[in-house]
Amino acid sequence: MSHVEKVLMAPQGPQFSKLVQGYWRLGAWDMNAQSRLSFLKAHVEMGITSVDHAAIYGAGECETLFGEALKLDSSMRDQIEIISKFGINGIATGANEKRVSHYDSSQQAILASTEHSLRRLGVEQLDTLLVHRPDFLMDADQVAEAFTKLKQSGKVKHFGVSNFTASQFDLLQSRLDMPLVTNQVEINPMNFDVIENGVCDQLQQVRVRPMAWSCLAGGEIFRAQTEQAKRLRETLTELAQELGASSMEQVIFAWVLKHPSNPVALIGSGKIERIKEAVSALALQMNTEQWYRVWVASKGFGVA
Ligand SMILES: NC(=O)c1ccc[n+]([C@@H]2O[C@H](COP(=O)([O-])OP(=O)(O)OC[C@H]3O[C@@H](n4cnc5c(N)ncnc54)[C@H](OP(=O)(O)O)[C@@H]3O)[C@@H](O)[C@H]2O)c1
Repeated sequence: MSHVEKVLMAPQGPQFSKLVQGYWRLGAWDMNAQSRLSFLKAHVEMGITSVDHAAIYGAGECETLFGEALKLDSSMRDQIEIISKFGINGIATGANEKRVSHYDSSQQAILASTEHSLRRLGVEQLDTLLVHRPDFLMDADQVAEAFTKLKQSGKVKHFGVSNFTASQFDLLQSRLDMPLVTNQVEINPMNFDVIENGVCDQLQQVRVRPMAWSCLAGGEIFRAQTEQAKRLRETLTELAQELGASSMEQVIFAWVLKHPSNPVALIGSGKIERIKEAVSALALQMNTEQWYRVWVASKGFGVA
């Protein structure tokens, strides 16, 4: 099995590992702190050194669980790049509760959320902080001011966005004197809107790599009984045989990584065996016709 290489995310940006371990589902993995540390060490050993968090994951619990594991071996901090996100205010609604979950990218909210993330993770600095979702009330000047304060205080090294359109990315970038280093977006064979709606074109233009989330559509690609999912499974199984891949997962990761915007791919599994599958996918060489076979299976029709 090859070692996962590090890649430059953007001009003057950070280096992330080409596969990034996602920690959204950490609360469901049923691991004690020692097993969490062993899991982290196992993927770092493979070269997967970048880890993805968000303030909202498990209402903060995922960052806390990760921080507990990190505390058991402080030498791990310098071996990893920690990405986290801010901006979603979840509200647990009771029967008579009229308040709703909402986005908040005010300067105060950004600074407070970052402090909480740092405390929960037990670290002094985030390697990269992302705006989790585009806030319809985003005031780009306020976000830029908060980012500048966080950079100057050394609490965050780099900044990026997630689920942004190309114009939202441009707007925020226009107010910053440092580069946005990624746009974290959904890319999988069941949903590749960003490949068609200009988001990936714009990232390719400015040489900023997307981070592809839910590459396996959260597992739906293996479970769903829709015609689309059935067509995809048939095609992915055929391609696995042609490419000498050991699973459909490997073909999917190779499909995501082939896009010329040069994404890094997030892994969502808490199982080391499945992470090894993703690593082996890096060696697969998918040709253009094979890539389009997945596109056609997803759409249910061919190109003109
Ligand atoms: N920025 C955003 O808005 C956003 C949104 C969503 C996610 N993310 C990030 O992206 C990361 C990855 O997302 P994701 O967790 O949705 O990734 P994913 O890889 O699409 O889905 C992972 C899920 O699929 C299951 N799975 C994997 N292989 C399977 C198989 N062969 N058969 C059946 N189920 C299988 C996993 O279960 P096991 O654990 O049992 O293997 C896990 O529950 C997250 O951790 C988070 O960091 C970001």
